[in-house]
Amino acid sequence: MGGNPWQSVPHDLFTMTTSTSPQFAPESMIGSLVAARPALARVFENLGLDYCCGGKQTLATACAGKGLDAQTVVAMLEAAVVAPTTEMDPAGMTLTQLADHIEQTHHVYVKAELPRLVELAERVAHKHAWRDARLPEVAETVVALANEMASHMQKEEMILFPLIRLIDAGETSGFHCGSIANPISVMEAEHESAGSATARLRELTDGFTPDAEACNTHRALLASLAEFESDLHRHVHKENNILFPRALAKEKQ
Ligand SMILES: [Fe+2]
Ligand SMILES: [Fe+2]
Repeated sequence: MGGNPWQSVPHDLFTMTTSTSPQFAPESMIGSLVAARPALARVFENLGLDYCCGGKQTLATACAGKGLDAQTVVAMLEAAVVAPTTEMDPAGMTLTQLADHIEQTHHVYVKAELPRLVELAERVAHKHAWRDARLPEVAETVVALANEMASHMQKEEMILFPLIRLIDAGETSGFHCGSIANPISVMEAEHESAGSATARLRELTDGFTPDAEACNTHRALLASLAEFESDLHRHVHKENNILFPRALAKEKQ
């Protein structure tokens, strides 16, 4: 595998859809809505609307059952597929602002998303491994990735990022680890490992593509894994290619 995979930042899943303005009619079946646009699964999950076993009910009926206004839910669904991401431009940010941004966006997302992905992957493997023998490895890979990422982000938040903030403030004396090149090399090796895990997940799922018989939970898992991979690429790109080199350069000054 040649080149640095993190330098090729994939397009954003949300900006892809900014040119469309889909309508979600209250009489639509909610299972069909999620089947057509798996990203909507999260909106339904957040609202407690059952799009899997209860997928054959209309949006209006499902909303009425939960005491929700159907038009408000339609607006939320539309926002979920057309809202552009507010991706920042790191060029004008200080090291401290960049570290803060990475923690407040990517770390928050990963901490919220991985437990959900573990739960979905284990549920899909339990129900459908008889149909696709790769699903147990998908679940095992997601569990291992969740454990690795939790430990990795804790090291960044507790050790490396505080050192980078000190360097940004002009304070470089008294570091216990010598140069920050040492913890940075450890973080970069862990990024490679996480990237290998998502690449393996991509292989095991035919590029996160559901087959014709995949249920809505399976489709939601695949869409979420694709979104996670995309976020991980942006996250690691900001650290490997922006934050770390700038911090090393400032440390040398
Ligand atoms: Fe990070
Ligand atoms: Fe990292």
